[in-house]
Amino acid sequence: IKTILKSDEGVKSLAGKKILITAGGTRESIDPVRYIGNKSSGKMGIALADAAYSIGANVLLVSPVPCERKYKVILVESAQEMQEVIESEFDKEDALIMAAAVSDFRPINISRQKIKKKNEDITIELTKNPDIIEILGRTKREDQIIIGFSAESEEIEKNALEKLTKKKIDLIVANDITVPEIGFGSDENAVII
Ligand code: C5P
Repeated sequence: IKTILKSDEGVKSLAGKKILITAGGTRESIDPVRYIGNKSSGKMGIALADAAYSIGANVLLVSPVPCERKYKVILVESAQEMQEVIESEFDKEDALIMAAAVSDFRPINISRQKIKKKNEDITIELTKNPDIIEILGRTKREDQIIIGFSAESEEIEKNALEKLTKKKIDLIVANDITVPEIGFGSDENAVII
């Protein structure tokens, strides 16, 4: 990103382009105080959104991580909320970058009251969330570009390539989450595109 910014200094190479970027981990409510989440900090998606904005793009950031920016930010919580926003906005966009870590599952029932602590184990039944990028990959227009991310702990290239094909997207960014220096929450990253 730094390289792009440096080489594009003063050049608005994304002027006139509309880009929707997602960042951070979705939160799937269990009850009014608890949720199932993940370790995504949102740094990658927010850095991409800042970079795209700085070279002229009309950016829309959709994220569960609050941040104040000059471009439009829509705060969401769950995967379903993220999906709703993306599906209503994507038609107007030239590109989508899904840097968010979307929860693959959500509790079937969200308790309206805080679940009471008892002296026994509890079971939370989960159901599958929709794969947002895959739905859009299937229905996108020819002129729209979709970029996905692939956090891998093994067989990085192979797994990322499989996702690229399965989700019918244009580009995939794969990174090795087992390397602590470039893992979750880190300011540095090393990826294969
Ligand atoms: O299959 P996997 O979850 O590893 O794929 C990662 C890519 O798919 C990311 O770009 C992520 O944002 C997207 N994704 C999605 N909806 C899901 C799960 C992942 O759009 N339910």
